[in-house]
Amino acid sequence: MDYETFFRKELDSLRKEGRYRVFADLERLAGRFPRALYHGEGAPREVTVWCSNDYLGMGQHPDVLKAMHEAIDGNGAGAGGTRNIGGTNHYHVLLERELADLHGKEAALLFNSGYMSNWASLSTLASRLPGCVVLTDALNHASMIEGIRHSRAEKLIFAHNDPDDLRRKLATIDPARPKLVAFESVYSMDGDIAPVAEFCDIADAFGAMTYIDEVHAVGLYGPRGGGISEREGLSDRLTLIEGTLAKSFGVMGGYIAGSAALCDFIRSYASGFIFSSSLPPALAAGALAAIRHLKASSAERERQQDRVGVLRARLDAVGIPHLPNPSHIVPVMVGDAVQCKAISDELLARFDIYVQPINYPTVPRGTERLRITPSPLHSDADIEHLVGALTAIWAKVGLKRAA
Ligand SMILES: Cc1ncc(COP(=O)(O)O)c(C=O)c1O
Repeated sequence: MDYETFFRKELDSLRKEGRYRVFADLERLAGRFPRALYHGEGAPREVTVWCSNDYLGMGQHPDVLKAMHEAIDGNGAGAGGTRNIGGTNHYHVLLERELADLHGKEAALLFNSGYMSNWASLSTLASRLPGCVVLTDALNHASMIEGIRHSRAEKLIFAHNDPDDLRRKLATIDPARPKLVAFESVYSMDGDIAPVAEFCDIADAFGAMTYIDEVHAVGLYGPRGGGISEREGLSDRLTLIEGTLAKSFGVMGGYIAGSAALCDFIRSYASGFIFSSSLPPALAAGALAAIRHLKASSAERERQQDRVGVLRARLDAVGIPHLPNPSHIVPVMVGDAVQCKAISDELLARFDIYVQPINYPTVPRGTERLRITPSPLHSDADIEHLVGALTAIWAKVGLKRAA
């Protein structure tokens, strides 16, 4: 086989569909979020980032940076091994305690990313519980899908955020079999929120475990940033809460929180936990500082919600179509991959605004969009500049306006 020709042909087909991914080469500027230097053609220039998942700007918060500097100076760079062989640092232990407390659980367990925490936890639970059936929301994240697939357990996909369909599917399963209901709280592309209480009621009625991915909610919702489960007083009803340290906590890593026995079980059986070197101490120290800050301060959450409201109102005023939802995610709908990429390119080239186009397979074909994530640090002037730029492009391209 001519391998190189194969690779090139496959890449060409992505380009033809307009969904070949081009990474924006950014240099983040500490203390100046949401500004960054863009290294494109020509000299580097300053742009405003409108699609970051550093939702609250904690990746540049002075407490976080200070904690990371101190941890590097005190502990050095890497962790030095897997958790079992020399790589458990005191910061990991403190961070796991903090996460357990954040979610009102007995224990927590760190992973090197949110992806890994989903993949390893779901694959371990579903493969080790004898005869387990997994009920998984139709729009669950790739890391959940891959973990469930890897387990080879039987799986039933229920309609997105649909309690009736979940109930119907659960009713078809032998009551004696272990069951795991897996869903997210805030869905990252549409910004809609799961009916968590209803899912818990149904799972209880059928004796099923509940697994919630709160990656796009931790830090952002609940009085201490414990996510939708905290906001709705449901933390104790969820068997396992999964989250990331890489979005609103501004650093990197993933985790689960649950009972002591559940976390110990995954710690002891999950290959993706056991056989991977642990997070550098400085990352754990930074995440710890971010979580502690956001537990005590709601100012960032409130300001973010304010910014989201202002942006939505301004988009409505000029008729730029965006999906209504109850979260901090503002999806501006384009509906065509090539056009979505062209709009993103123009925002960057003409207006110094960076919003990555979101295409298939991240979202279904025909629902391509600009996924905008206002942060507490976007000013009124930033919002006006973005809305003005979108208005100009919408007029030029002749895209449909919302009523
Ligand atoms: C719903 C969801 N779960 C898990 C992840 C993975 O988290 P991480 O980026 O920490 O690997 C993501 C995306 O990043 C996500 O959107």
